[in-house]
Amino acid sequence: MAPIVLITHREEFAAAHQLCNPELGDAENRRLYGPCFTLHGHNYEIEVTVAGPLARDTGMVMNLADLARLMKEEILAQVDHKNLNTDVTFLEGVIPTAENLAVAFWERLAPRIEALEPCRLHRIRVHESRANMAEYLGPPA
Ligand code: NI
Repeated sequence: MAPIVLITHREEFAAAHQLCNPELGDAENRRLYGPCFTLHGHNYEIEVTVAGPLARDTGMVMNLADLARLMKEEILAQVDHKNLNTDVTFLEGVIPTAENLAVAFWERLAPRIEALEPCRLHRIRVHESRANMAEYLGPPA
């Protein structure tokens, strides 16, 4: 049995967002989201972890260059230097918290990773700042 190993690739992007629930009034949104109710930007970091058997012939789980390419195609090309509230089709109707970004990025990447069977997406981390990060491990099996 090949050992199961986790590999992680990290990318960065810059984007603007405003945390706002359109069903609430300004006062309630300001109470809920504080300064994040004002349009502002972040330098995000995303970490994508893939799990799979370590292939004896390559010494790899999957080629990290392929993982980087998938992240660029499915995520960075859509969100880098964009307004996450208005510019990103797959975030329409989504309050762009780090939590929601982690789930939305999972839904875009998981089918691409699963196509590389037996690898599978294991975890997505979205760092919004040095202090704050959201992590998603996928839907329950
Ligand atoms: Ni923010």
